[in-house]
Amino acid sequence: MEQSIESYIKNLVRETLGHTLGEMQVQSDRRIYVIANWKMNKSLAETAEFFQEFKSSNDVSVVVCPPTQLLYPTQLFIKQSGKPIGLGGQNVHWADKGAYTGETSISMLKDVGCEYVIIGHSERRQYAHEDDVLVNKKVKQAIKAGLIPIICIGETLEEKNSMRTEQVLFTQLFGALKEIDSGDFIIAYEPVWAIGTGQSATADLAHQTHSYIRSVLKQIVGEKAENISILYGGSANESNAAEYSSMSDIDGVLVGGASLKAQSFDGIIKVFAKGEQNS
Ligand code: PGA
Repeated sequence: MEQSIESYIKNLVRETLGHTLGEMQVQSDRRIYVIANWKMNKSLAETAEFFQEFKSSNDVSVVVCPPTQLLYPTQLFIKQSGKPIGLGGQNVHWADKGAYTGETSISMLKDVGCEYVIIGHSERRQYAHEDDVLVNKKVKQAIKAGLIPIICIGETLEEKNSMRTEQVLFTQLFGALKEIDSGDFIIAYEPVWAIGTGQSATADLAHQTHSYIRSVLKQIVGEKAENISILYGGSANESNAAEYSSMSDIDGVLVGGASLKAQSFDGIIKVFAKGEQNS
């Protein structure tokens, strides 16, 4: 991918000063995350193999979100590795407990060591018909239990083509964060057209959109918005990670396909860890 003028200048300033000017002002309180979303992939044996090869890094916040049946063994593999890797669920139910066959409650996630939970992923919005009202209930459930929700938002190709991206993101953010004023959540901007397609958003487009998202967050939680990590997701991989990490408003990535192999996930982590050290 061709390097944008903005990222070229930022890299130049970064090389000279050790950090970019934007990062000096705003990134101090923002954590950089590299998060794996394994979706409905991997067996127990494949998970064991992954952790045999996985190196990770202490310089960025790394989180792995395996499917539900692998949460407990993954917690054990993480403990065994001795590394500060976070564990996250891919979904949660909005009720505390009860007659909800096939669902997982927030206390169940907590019980197996989760500190994070993905909420409102576009695949759940699409296949399980989750809407902003449901997403909001789940976000409240996570915050109440002390887990950090990774709230996914993003426009479809049709919405992008009809210039409705900002409108969609605005509605999704206000919907997901209704009656919430705590800043303890992560936003993942995942344009639906970029997920699993190999058609990643350019770093410039992602950066612009993240700036817009932060401006909306300011309307919702005020100045705390400066401390909220906004991640990019959608065909992020080892080759495009450097472009994303050079942008001051991209605070990490949520990775699907490229997180399934330890080597490629490590490659992405390495890029962001390097950026963090330089900032
Ligand atoms: P992808 O998935 O990296 O395979 O595009 C990202 C996601 O859906 O979180």
